[in-house]
Amino acid sequence: MSLKKLMTTYRQRVDTALETWLPATSIQPTRLHEAMRYTVLNGGKRVRPLLVYLTGNAVGVELSALDAPACAVELIHAYSLVHDDLPAMDDDDLRRGQVTCHIAFNEATAILVGDALQTLAFYVLSHDSNIQTSHKHHVTMIETLALASGSRGMAGGQAIDMDSVGQSLNMTELENMHIHKTGALIRASVKLGALASDNIDDNMLKKLDHYAKCIGLAFQIQDDILDIESSTETLGKAQGSDIAHDKVTYPSLLGLRGAKQMAKELIEDAETSLVDFDEKADPLRWMANYIVTRHY
Ligand code: IPE
Ligand code: IPE
Ligand code: MG
Ligand code: MG
Ligand code: MG
Repeated sequence: MSLKKLMTTYRQRVDTALETWLPATSIQPTRLHEAMRYTVLNGGKRVRPLLVYLTGNAVGVELSALDAPACAVELIHAYSLVHDDLPAMDDDDLRRGQVTCHIAFNEATAILVGDALQTLAFYVLSHDSNIQTSHKHHVTMIETLALASGSRGMAGGQAIDMDSVGQSLNMTELENMHIHKTGALIRASVKLGALASDNIDDNMLKKLDHYAKCIGLAFQIQDDILDIESSTETLGKAQGSDIAHDKVTYPSLLGLRGAKQMAKELIEDAETSLVDFDEKADPLRWMANYIVTRHY
């Protein structure tokens, strides 16, 4: 199957699972549940769930055992976007082609949507009965998502991002920011897919982790490039938001050419890390390429 077909299949699969896990709007508090569904069920690219499924496939895990980790990581990601768009952070009013949660509802609701999605992620990951891996791996999966989401992962990266506005970061500091704010969840997605197997050895895990680290950084570099080169219509979010908010980005430090070169090198590095894997890992190779060639 081509990557395009796999993407369609797995997007539908994770959307169905998310639909099931999200509380119905008929349940109290209805407005909060409506806002949670508005935020999640709206056609994101689902890159992180895709990575969970593709990694799991590459190491022989059944799809049903991957639904919960795929949902959990997307729920954390969706929460991070709601908070990222708040006036206190990036102050953006468009996301996935629709007005942001705090505009469609209000700021208090958007804060609570983030809180509720984050805890729902851990409920799903711990509660799901289709996870087939050992108890030890299951606990490590929960631990992995917790670390990747918190102050030593995504939230920490967002803190660096906020502190860096109007500052001049060097390359090492910028890389550190990107690795945390975006790389951590992408890395966790791959690790969750791998840990869903009981047979994954440390060497394979290490190679998959290096792959994920490279594509995670490349993902944010491409996001920074698209913020300059794409359009609001294509992105479904405001083009030029980084410049408007005085953000430090790869293009702002290296120029567009330098940023593109860096992303390309990271993808080559990611692909090299998979040399020992058989053709079941091909979709992961395609995914690496997609991350730096995507238009939105
Ligand atoms: C946007 O993530 C925020 C970043 C971490 C760069 P995505 O580009 O994955 O956004 P969606 O989920 O497709 O909307
Ligand atoms: C956000 O980075 C990373 C998150 C943890 C949400 P950006 O602020 O660049 O993401 P966009 O461009 O608003 O999607
Ligand atoms: Mg931001
Ligand atoms: Mg933003
Ligand atoms: Mg951005």
